[in-house]
Amino acid sequence: MDFVSIMKAKAASAFKKLVLPEGNEERTIRAARILLDEKIAATVTLLGNIAEIREAAMKEGVDLEGIALVHPGVDGAILSKYANEYYELRKKKGMTPEQAKTDITDPLRWGAMMVHMGDADAMVAGAVNTTGDVLRAGLAIIGTAQGIKTASSCFVMTGMDPQYGTEGSMIFSDCAVIPAPLPEQLADITECAAQSCREFLNAEPVAALLSFSTKGSASHDNVTKVQEAVKILETRKPNFVFDGELQADAALVPSVLDKKAPGSPVRGKVNTLIFPDLGSGNISYKLVQRLGKAQAYGPFLQGFAKPISDLSRGASVDDIVTTCAVTLSRAK
Ligand code: ACO
Repeated sequence: MDFVSIMKAKAASAFKKLVLPEGNEERTIRAARILLDEKIAATVTLLGNIAEIREAAMKEGVDLEGIALVHPGVDGAILSKYANEYYELRKKKGMTPEQAKTDITDPLRWGAMMVHMGDADAMVAGAVNTTGDVLRAGLAIIGTAQGIKTASSCFVMTGMDPQYGTEGSMIFSDCAVIPAPLPEQLADITECAAQSCREFLNAEPVAALLSFSTKGSASHDNVTKVQEAVKILETRKPNFVFDGELQADAALVPSVLDKKAPGSPVRGKVNTLIFPDLGSGNISYKLVQRLGKAQAYGPFLQGFAKPISDLSRGASVDDIVTTCAVTLSRAK
C-alpha cells in the first residue's frame, strides 16, 4: 500500500473526531464530505458563520448531512468554558478575562481549544490562514508534548531510489517551521522526527544531523550548532540511532561515510534527515521532489501535545484529505 492509503486506513481504524476551523472554505467543505463518507473521521466539525458555510456548500454541490457546523462563541455556555480555559492558559502572558472571551472566538483558537478540551481529537487548518497563524494558535492552546519544548515539522518523502532510507522513503525535518533552530531545538526536532519516522514509515529511526561539515572537517558557527545538538542528544540518550554532524553524501553513501566518519552507527541505514536550518530543509525537500521526482507529503507538524496540522494555501482537496488522515492517524 502507498503512504496515503496506509494513513487513511490508520485514521479509519482510529476513527477520531476532526475539527476544521476554515469551515466556509470550498476545498475544506469538499474534503469534509470525503472524510466522513470514507469513514476516515468519526465526526467532522466545520467552524464559521453557519449561513456562509451553507452557502459555500451549496455552490460546491456538497451535502452537509452528518457534518457538524459550529459558529464559535454563539453557544454561551461553551464560550464561557473555552474563554475561561484560554484565560487560565494565557494569564501569565497578560491575558485578561475580557480579551480571552473575544480572542477565543477566532476559529483557529476555537478549534485548538476543542482539541485541548477533548471535544475534538485533531485539527487541520491553513487552506486560508498562514502557517504562522496556525502555529501560534496551536502553541498558545495545545502546547508541546511532554519533554519537548519545540514544535517543528516533517515531510514524508517517498518514491526515491530504494537503496536509500526505508525502501526509498525518508523523513525530512524541519522543512517548514523554525527558521534558525538553536542546538536544543535541533535536538528536539531530531527526537520528534524520529517519532514521525516510527509513525509514518513504520520503521526504526536512524537519524543523520546534516551539515556542510563531517566530524569537524569545517569550522563555523553553523557547524558548531549541529555538533552541540548531537552532544545534547547524547546526554538525553534517546532510543534511536543517530549521528552528526554529517554531510549529505556521508549520511547516505556507506563508502563515503567510511572515509569521512569510519565506525558511524548510521552506516547504510539513514531514514531520517535532520537539516541544520529551515533554508536548507525547505530547499532540499523541494529539490528532491522536483529534480528527483519523489513524492513529498507534508508538512506535518510534530512535537505538539495533540495532533494538529498546517496546510499549504495552495492545497488541493486531495491534499487536505491526506493531511487530515495523517493528523487523525496520530490521535490517541
Ligand atoms: N515551538 C514551541 N514554541 C514556540 C515555537 C516553536 N517552534 N515558536 C514560537 N514558540 C512560542 C514562543 O516562545 C511564544 O510563546 P509565548 O506566547 O508563550 O511567549 C509563542 O510561541 C509565540 O511566539 P511568537 O514570538 O509570536 O512567534 P514567532 O515570531 O517566534 O514565530 C512561528 C513562531 C509562528 C512558528 C514562526 O517561526 C513561523 O512563522 N514559522 C513558520 C515559517 C514559515 O512561514 N514556513 C513556511 C514554509 S511552509 C512550506 O514551504 C511547506
